[in-house]
Amino acid sequence: MKILLLGSNGQLGWELSRTCPETIQLFTCDYPGVDFLSTASIHNCIESTEPAWIINAAAYTAVDLAQTEKLKAFRINHEAVKDIALAARLKNIKLVHISTDYIFSGQHFAPIRVDHPPDPQSVYGESKLQGEQCVTELLEKSSLIIRTAWLYSSHGANFVKTMLRLMQEKQRLTVVDDQIGTPTWANGLAETIWSAIKKNLTGIYHWTDAGCASWYDFAVAIQEEAVSMGLLKKTIPILPVPSSSYPTAAKRPAYSILDKQKICDALNITPPHWRQQLRKMLHETTL
Ligand SMILES: NC(=O)c1ccc[n+]([C@@H]2O[C@H](COP(=O)([O-])OP(=O)(O)OC[C@H]3O[C@@H](n4cnc5c(N)ncnc54)[C@H](OP(=O)(O)O)[C@@H]3O)[C@@H](O)[C@H]2O)c1
Repeated sequence: MKILLLGSNGQLGWELSRTCPETIQLFTCDYPGVDFLSTASIHNCIESTEPAWIINAAAYTAVDLAQTEKLKAFRINHEAVKDIALAARLKNIKLVHISTDYIFSGQHFAPIRVDHPPDPQSVYGESKLQGEQCVTELLEKSSLIIRTAWLYSSHGANFVKTMLRLMQEKQRLTVVDDQIGTPTWANGLAETIWSAIKKNLTGIYHWTDAGCASWYDFAVAIQEEAVSMGLLKKTIPILPVPSSSYPTAAKRPAYSILDKQKICDALNITPPHWRQQLRKMLHETTL
């Protein structure tokens, strides 16, 4: 089976490439080979590969910059996704599209179900919501949307790698403790996507690793694990602070735990705990 992977050099794209089952003929593409700012570029990429499935792992992910680069964020996260969905409908191609916890308000007190009404609080969140809505409208029966959160990987820039760098450079760190989510290894999400494609799954689902943490809890765990495996040589104090200590251009959700029951039932899987996944990622990380 031929599959076209867009955004192959991002965190998730890289994990999808290295976990791809042998039975799949994977065609990978990323910027500038395909440019989501250009409809023609997207069409050329799809027409030259003629896949059975497209996985869209590309996105405009600069959450704060999106507040000022609104047009670019919407072009990449909404209009380009519409271009892909229209081409997929025309050519009978199935589409896997990735979305985010940022489509929700973040004002929740229990894991957020797939059918909870969206209420994005940032340009990034709104652009991602419009992207997933046009996928559902154009490809209702032949698309799979997976919303995820707090992704990290040994490839690309993310919280784990930033913390490891700062823990080497600084004498102490302050990290926000009033935003709650689930750290999620992109490798596990990639494996879940391959299982979902194998089962021909369609519809909207949530996937993250299991458990929950604040950014502060996550930072403490990164340090503990990295020190215990000899990746870091020393421990530094890490202090919890409120989000108000770190003003950002885009508002972050205070609560981002996604309810994963629907995908667990559909694929008969259980997500691994985030800390177990963190350990695996750190084992393949060099400083
Ligand atoms: N990271 C998270 O914490 C998180 C959380 C929830 C949901 N998600 C969603 O999960 C998916 C994967 O995220 P990720 O963390 O793997 O993202 P990422 O590492 O930022 O990768 C995004 C990819 O999109 C590509 N891209 C950006 N602009 C492009 C353009 N104009 N044309 C073509 N490609 C372009 C990037 O290429 P360049 O590297 O060349 O820019 C990069 O390869 C996205 O849909 C994201 O919204 C992510």
